[in-house]
Amino acid sequence: MSSTSVQIQKFASTITERYGIVVTREQRETLSKYVAERMTYLGYQYFDDYYSWLQFKANEIEWEQYISLITNNETYFFREPNHFRVLDTLIFDELMRTVPADRKIRVWSCGCSSGEEPYSIATLIKDKFGLSVLQNRFEVIASDLDQKILAAARNAEYGKNSFRVKEHAYILSNFTETPNSRWKLSDDIAGAVKFFRFNVCEEPDKIENLAEPVDLIFFRNVSIYFTSDTLKKVQHRLQSRLNLNGYLFVASCETMLHDLGQLKLIDQGGAFLFKKSVGNSVSEPFKLNAKPVQIKKEEVQSNKVESYDTLLQRIRGLIDERKPAHSEKRAVTDAIDVVNQAISQNQDQITNLALLRLQEDLFDEAVRLISHKKDKTFKDMAVEAYSLMCLSRFSEADIPIGKMKKSEEFNPVGYLFDGLNYKLQGKFDQATVSFRRCIYLDLSFATPHFHLGNIYQQTKKWTLAKSEYELTLKLIDKNRKQLIEFNKPDVSIDYIQYACQKILKNYTQEMNEKVN
Ligand SMILES: C[S@@+](CC[C@H](N)C(=O)[O-])C[C@H]1O[C@@H](n2cnc3c(N)ncnc32)[C@H](O)[C@@H]1O
Repeated sequence: MSSTSVQIQKFASTITERYGIVVTREQRETLSKYVAERMTYLGYQYFDDYYSWLQFKANEIEWEQYISLITNNETYFFREPNHFRVLDTLIFDELMRTVPADRKIRVWSCGCSSGEEPYSIATLIKDKFGLSVLQNRFEVIASDLDQKILAAARNAEYGKNSFRVKEHAYILSNFTETPNSRWKLSDDIAGAVKFFRFNVCEEPDKIENLAEPVDLIFFRNVSIYFTSDTLKKVQHRLQSRLNLNGYLFVASCETMLHDLGQLKLIDQGGAFLFKKSVGNSVSEPFKLNAKPVQIKKEEVQSNKVESYDTLLQRIRGLIDERKPAHSEKRAVTDAIDVVNQAISQNQDQITNLALLRLQEDLFDEAVRLISHKKDKTFKDMAVEAYSLMCLSRFSEADIPIGKMKKSEEFNPVGYLFDGLNYKLQGKFDQATVSFRRCIYLDLSFATPHFHLGNIYQQTKKWTLAKSEYELTLKLIDKNRKQLIEFNKPDVSIDYIQYACQKILKNYTQEMNEKVN
């Protein structure tokens, strides 16, 4: 009667396929017990019979019982207050201005769990604009895969844990205490939220509540256990349901894929979210020295490098001094063109020479060389920023880093450098935010995970550090993606791999010593 681990593995893979959720080892044990219970109850002797019934004949309710066992329904009112602050101070006002008065502003909480998220949105609208605006100008819809949790959401009754970031005044003005010391949301507000079942791995078009696109999507803490393939599909579906200029919120601990099509990552009042806009081009991740130019140190002598402007001034000075005749003047202008060409070639050489200096730890020299560049490329800014960080000139490094982020907003390297700059100053909270943003942009980039691990290690959160280091090694194993080709400890894949292995080995040794 009991199912083997191979059978349970097969079952777990089907769950991942149907619902996107990756089943952990512990959950597999829970599933296995429940499968046995269901088989007894339904009179199946062999797992394969039960499984094929489940696959081909069982209705959704049978599946949903498994889903309830493995989904994480953790949620609370006003989770990530930053998101609600941005809604309150910027986004709701913008939507009230821009959405035509003849249609409702539609807000969708996708993966709403027991309802705290959509009800936070609804109470915020009511507190800001009044109940009548909530009921007549807005439409708040909320969906989840899990029917049991949806029933709890519709019931709208909560315990203390749901209000962990909200003060008592908020509870008193929107809820009434029940005899069993719980809090029931007022019917007016609860009635303004429409709940429905929706599995994000299915097509949304067939769902009545999603036939019309929406202006805001909250998709937070749902995709944490999704595979990147599932996430990609889901992301496209969500995007297709969003109105132009609409916003998508994801949790700050979550990663979204890089290729977001029309969704543009923006920093809105300090919160990171995605905005749907037209013609948003997504740039390829930048590779420093993708095609390395072989140059010899002596090829360009640093003292011979003169800035374009000074060189031009010098030539103009010479022309004026000599007061040439017309034909001579023409010849000089031609000569200037030739010099211009030479200078533009020289510009590339400046970059390469600066890179060479950086590799030799001659950071001052690298910064000096880059200052000669006329139009700085992303690579120049990266060399300049990295050198300034190595010289502990952190606030100066902020300038090229800011330019990197601005010039290639989808390039994770800008955020990586931002994180490094904060980390080197011991500003771990800001560094963590930047490294996470970097991961938002490129799920498979190992370097930011290494630095997060480092921060956790330094702040003595060893379990988190260990999992970041392990993830770093896994990502490197899969793909030795090196977006920056400085051969420097903070950014070189070889170094990072070596450091992770060493740290994890030391830790295991330490643990073994403790046990013995
Ligand atoms: C951790 S809760 C997040 C609740 C809320 N969004 C928040 O951030 O507080 C995750 C919810 O996602 C739901 N979920 C997981 N996989 C889903 C899927 N494939 N389709 C729809 N909902 C899903 C779970 O049932 C669970 O209620």
